[in-house]
Amino acid sequence: MDDGLIVEATGGGVERASAALGRGELVGMPTETVYGLAADALNERAVARVFEAKGRPRFDPLIVHVGDAGAAAGLVSEWPERARLLAERFWPGPLTLVLPKRGLVPDLVTAGLDSVAVRCPEHPVALGLIRAFGGPVAAPSANRFGGISPTAAEHVVSELGASVSLVLDGGPCGRGLESTVVGLTGERATLLRPGALAIELIEGVVGALERVAASDNPSRPQVSPGRMDRHYAPRTPMLTFGAAVPDREIIVRAAGGADVPVALMTLGPGHPAAGVYGWHEQVVLSETGDLTEVAAGLFAALRRLDEGSAGLIVAEHPIKASGLGPAIRDRLARGSMVQSF
Ligand code: TXA
Ligand code: MG
Repeated sequence: MDDGLIVEATGGGVERASAALGRGELVGMPTETVYGLAADALNERAVARVFEAKGRPRFDPLIVHVGDAGAAAGLVSEWPERARLLAERFWPGPLTLVLPKRGLVPDLVTAGLDSVAVRCPEHPVALGLIRAFGGPVAAPSANRFGGISPTAAEHVVSELGASVSLVLDGGPCGRGLESTVVGLTGERATLLRPGALAIELIEGVVGALERVAASDNPSRPQVSPGRMDRHYAPRTPMLTFGAAVPDREIIVRAAGGADVPVALMTLGPGHPAAGVYGWHEQVVLSETGDLTEVAAGLFAALRRLDEGSAGLIVAEHPIKASGLGPAIRDRLARGSMVQSF
């Protein structure tokens, strides 16, 4: 791994990153959610490099990062009252708004859709970079397509090292889960992806959000193309469970044999699942079962387990329907190949 790519934000790092963006190059950008793979949003060649670097299909549009609501409003053809209220309340922060785009946003950024996703991140380094660059920055999560999102600078290097000019080090991401994506192009505000901002907080401002079903069939038109069923996935097969602890037989079948090492990941300590199997390794995401802490450490834990020798990860998902419960559950469900129950 080329650690030399990781650059401190202070002492000229932000300026170097900004200059690289100006040359159409890609840089790793820390945000409060996950690290982004940043490019000049108005430079099509640079944006094309993002798709190439990630191995991302061209039908999956990118989020454009801006420094404030005024900059977001400049990229869209409508800035409705709902957008104004949400931005005022939650920006900078982990909320992405999808609105009808203006012509200056390249079609490649939006995958040909007539809407664009905009977000103002709550991270001093990201905001510093956007300010120094002086324009909108397109940035998907800085992982290979379908894989686990990076929550530390080293993750970006190990995922995409050869494609980036540098990675700004902003330390580990505080939130650890991607932004919540809300569609504002139709009559009703729509939840396009659950994320780090709790749904009920958004609903407190704009009323009930319409839910859309995910689809992994790229030939069908999709409301939010990134919502494919398998995503955020470790290479190691994962089996998730909620209230019911899986029994030994199911685990052995999912692992493909009784001799395959299996790792257990739980939200809190002292879980009854700990006793049902001779686990090769056990990870507790939060000593108090606190979902904020779970979210912050989730992707890094999956990444570590993926690098270890377990042939199956058995992961507990939250059953709580509020706060971060739905977003964590969504990521675990879509990272697992094996039916959850
Ligand atoms: O927290 C985040 O959102 C991170 C950081 C880097 O900001 N970014 C991120 O980007 O997660 P990405 O590309 O991994 O996910 C963007 C999601 C995808 O599900 C994509 O389909 C959806 O936003 N999206 C982007 N533009 C859209 C549009 N015009 N209409 C509907 N969905 C859109
Ligand atoms: Mg992503």
